[in-house]
Amino acid sequence: MANPAPVVPLLGQPSFITLQSHVLVEERRHPGATGTLSWIISALSIASKTIAAKLKTAGIEDVLGEFGTDNVQGERQQKLDVIANHLLIQLLRSREGVAVIGSEENDELLLVDAAAAGGRRYAVLFDPLDGSSNLDVGGGVGTIFSIFALGDGESGTLQPGRQQIAAGYVLYGSSTIFVLTTGNGVHMFVLDPAVGAFIRVAEHLRIPARGKTYSVNEANLDSFPAGYQRFLGQCRERGYSSRYAGAMVVDVHRVLIKGGVFLYPPTAKAPQGKLRLMYEANPMAMLIEQAGGAASIGGQPILDVAPEELHQRVPVILGSRDEVAELEAMLKD
Ligand code: AHG
Ligand code: MN
Ligand code: MN
Repeated sequence: MANPAPVVPLLGQPSFITLQSHVLVEERRHPGATGTLSWIISALSIASKTIAAKLKTAGIEDVLGEFGTDNVQGERQQKLDVIANHLLIQLLRSREGVAVIGSEENDELLLVDAAAAGGRRYAVLFDPLDGSSNLDVGGGVGTIFSIFALGDGESGTLQPGRQQIAAGYVLYGSSTIFVLTTGNGVHMFVLDPAVGAFIRVAEHLRIPARGKTYSVNEANLDSFPAGYQRFLGQCRERGYSSRYAGAMVVDVHRVLIKGGVFLYPPTAKAPQGKLRLMYEANPMAMLIEQAGGAASIGGQPILDVAPEELHQRVPVILGSRDEVAELEAMLKD
């Protein structure tokens, strides 16, 4: 007798693998894994769903505008910077295994030091709300995170980005998108608000080797080092487009999907660039490298920079392999 037809036809629908099940499967690949990392990523997932919900009604509830304080970097804090930061800290500090928390919005590392079963200890560093100046105009914003494993008794020492064991971001845009790497490729999940879960929509993302757009604050062009100016001139001659949201998560997400480069060069106002190594440049660099792209400060991979302090800034060049190589060559001349 012929095989009966399948009851449910396979229509090429998404996998219905949730972020949580994806992380559990990944963790099983590591012998001796204790589940602590899954537990931490689940805290990040809950925090980001809560932030996404707050952002959706931000114009209705009284959460827009300035909080009235400056952060350690002298930037005006938005109310939602403070709310997102508070949520992430509250969720993470209750998770076993989170020993150290570092945030853009806190001057110092927070030492929590709750060792998990099996003694696993982690540091979680984040930018709770990236691109927060976009909030008042309903533009895209994000959350960026970086996770390191800590040795016994280790707390305040910062490690180079190459040692990250996981990194990712959440983009709060037309959909809420969670992009994650645990060192085995880059995977993308979209929040289904009706179900309340992040559903995997792409595995092992690969950034195109070359793109057609550059993403940089061109208003600062005159104060970029000469190599950047030449590179951007060449892009214009070749007919590239310019795309700049002013939120790193939004701009890097476009580069990851479509190719091209994202740049925050040194400027007269910010001689080391504006972006912060530990919770902006490093996690994005790990994602971009894992997707087959390149990430550099100009002459050195971002992931090899030895950190000196939590809020240190670095120039950022990241994206498609070919464009990054061309710019690197021009910076050497
Ligand atoms: P944050 O809102 O976390 O302080 O980050 C803002 C950053 C980053 O998202 C973006 O790429 C960059 O600032 C934009 O800076 P300019 O306005 O100088 O272009
Ligand atoms: Mn930021
Ligand atoms: Mn921020």
